Amino acid sequence: MVQSTGNKKVKCAVFISGTGSNLKSLIKFSKKKNSPISIELIISDNSKANGLKFGKIFKISNHVFNYKNKISAEKKIIYEIKKNKIKIICLAGFMKILSKDFIKSFKGKILNIHPSLLPKYKGLNTHERAISNNEKYSGCTVHFVNSKLDSGKIILQKKVRIIKGDTAKSLAKRVLTHEHKLYPKAISKIVSL
Ligand code: GRF
Repeated sequence: MVQSTGNKKVKCAVFISGTGSNLKSLIKFSKKKNSPISIELIISDNSKANGLKFGKIFKISNHVFNYKNKISAEKKIIYEIKKNKIKIICLAGFMKILSKDFIKSFKGKILNIHPSLLPKYKGLNTHERAISNNEKYSGCTVHFVNSKLDSGKIILQKKVRIIKGDTAKSLAKRVLTHEHKLYPKAISKIVSL
């Protein structure tokens, strides 16, 4: 549980690499009157990430770091996180793997959203694999990040039925609409004002 101090919203950073639809839904959530969080920082490894435009639209400071040198990128990220007094990091389609040291220094403070019912289908191409294994359900999971890929403690999950004729694309699109609701719910579960 992350508790705010003096009834102030808990400051969050969102890390993205691409579209940023989860970022957008988190920003909308943060703007609600009773939301426990504010989004203060957007971090990306990709200067072409579509999601960066939400930083401009909503006037949230955003930084792009070149991950060719991971150690140096993470040092700069840590500097921004400390400067902005960030208490929670939300990974939302961030395609880089954080170093063990980075994860250790924010233990219990990094969340991720993954498009499968973990522990099933860690890693990439989750919907393709679920369909080709004839699963009845796919879904999404919000979990804490630990040093093993997609393996940290689960906060919340949502099951989504796989429909006959679903492709990875159609399923991903449907699951994404649930991701947009699940991430705010999971945050509300672990953050209190
Ligand atoms: C989502 O499906 C999320 O679960 C996964 O990457 C995708 C990001 O989508 N980790 P978006 O950039 O939030 O639209």
